[in-house]
Amino acid sequence: MNKKFSLPRGTSDILPIDVTLWGSIENLIRQKLNQYNYKEIRTPIFEETELFARSMGQSSEVVAKQMLSLTRSDADNKEKSGLSLRPEGTAAVVRSYIQNGMFKQEGLSRLFYFGPMFRGERPQKGRLRQFHQMGVEAIGPNSASPYLDAEVIALAVNVLKSLGLNNFQLKINTLGTAKDKGVFARWLKERLKDCIDHLSEASQQSFHENVFRILDSKEPEAQKLIDSLHLDHSYLSDESRTYYAQVKNALDILNVPYQETPRLVRGLDYYTQTVFEISDASLGSQDALGAGGRYGGLVQQLGGPEDVEAVGFALGIERIILALGDQERSPSVLDIFIMAMEEGFLDHAYALLHQLRDQFPQHSVEMNYNVSSMKSQLRLANKKNARFVLIIGKDEAESNAVTVKNMSTGDQRTMSMDHHMQGLKDFLKNN
Ligand code: HAM
Repeated sequence: MNKKFSLPRGTSDILPIDVTLWGSIENLIRQKLNQYNYKEIRTPIFEETELFARSMGQSSEVVAKQMLSLTRSDADNKEKSGLSLRPEGTAAVVRSYIQNGMFKQEGLSRLFYFGPMFRGERPQKGRLRQFHQMGVEAIGPNSASPYLDAEVIALAVNVLKSLGLNNFQLKINTLGTAKDKGVFARWLKERLKDCIDHLSEASQQSFHENVFRILDSKEPEAQKLIDSLHLDHSYLSDESRTYYAQVKNALDILNVPYQETPRLVRGLDYYTQTVFEISDASLGSQDALGAGGRYGGLVQQLGGPEDVEAVGFALGIERIILALGDQERSPSVLDIFIMAMEEGFLDHAYALLHQLRDQFPQHSVEMNYNVSSMKSQLRLANKKNARFVLIIGKDEAESNAVTVKNMSTGDQRTMSMDHHMQGLKDFLKNN
């Protein structure tokens, strides 16, 4: 027996019945993005590994443990290519923004993307190795504004609402400027240093490499310790505290409810000032539908101009679909199904198939290449959800006609082939 292949772990097939739902989700999201004047950008699905390391941070969980890197596979020379599948969209969009000199042409570039992302995580419900994000990035010179931060957050919330989701929670926080982040890191280390030995090895490693990661820890011991720290933003500059107050004020103006969560730091290094996460408790442990924030220094860090600021977010499409639950999947519909009742009529049916595809560009048309009884061909038409069938049988062949049957009403009419196109058009229109 030949080997049967299955999906790589942590990936999924999106079958035709689900693609309809994916398509309608994408359409609704596009409508919302259009309202906010975001324009689509498409970047490659792989980039230089170093781009991700420099932006997300060498010690971030994603770069340290989850990068799916490419190797060349000629037999004797398995060399590393220096390329990796993209684990997220932000770094690539910033790379493209700089490379294409968008900072010269426009004020604020409002960009969005859809597409697969790749992380070598341990798969579980809601956590895949290939998943899909829709993301937005608003990037521009001197563009930092609390109004923009709040608008981007509101967009994320409104996208989810437009998809019919309502039971999610928005958490927000501020990390302060890049300088404040340094102060915050020292503040944390000072308070954690005497108790760090009681935490797990992973937390101890985080303490040394990137202390913020301890705040993300799910370990009960670490959580208890963090609770006792009373994170109150006292370590931030006045400038950052004022900026944060303005973001909250702008969210209030937009009537977007939020929960302040001082321990929310996000796992990627590039964030400064505002960060946020939207979660849905019904999803279990992988409850983040999406997340984002401001990243003040990233454009400069990747070789762009110093004054370019940015803010954005990404939503996970698979998690949105999980949160939507068992939405009705509308079965695919076929407009016209052509059935020949004898081998001798197949040529004729085949010519008609192509003629119909020409004449009815809005309709889907298929034919059955296997001749069988009327009953079994009609059964097949039903399975395909055909709206109309065209039957070419003996009577039709003898009188150069075709029979059209409306599958939902049972109405049928035999039309002369000489005029059948116009007749057919009228029949389809009136049925
Ligand atoms: P992130 O928090 O790493 O942020 O991912 C955003 C969302 O992608 C998550 O909230 C989740 O819904 C989905 N996601 C992430 N990993 C997986 C996975 N393994 N399986 C399924 N879904 C997943 C970013 O990627 C940032 N680039 C967001 C951003 C844009 N910040 C600024 N601009």
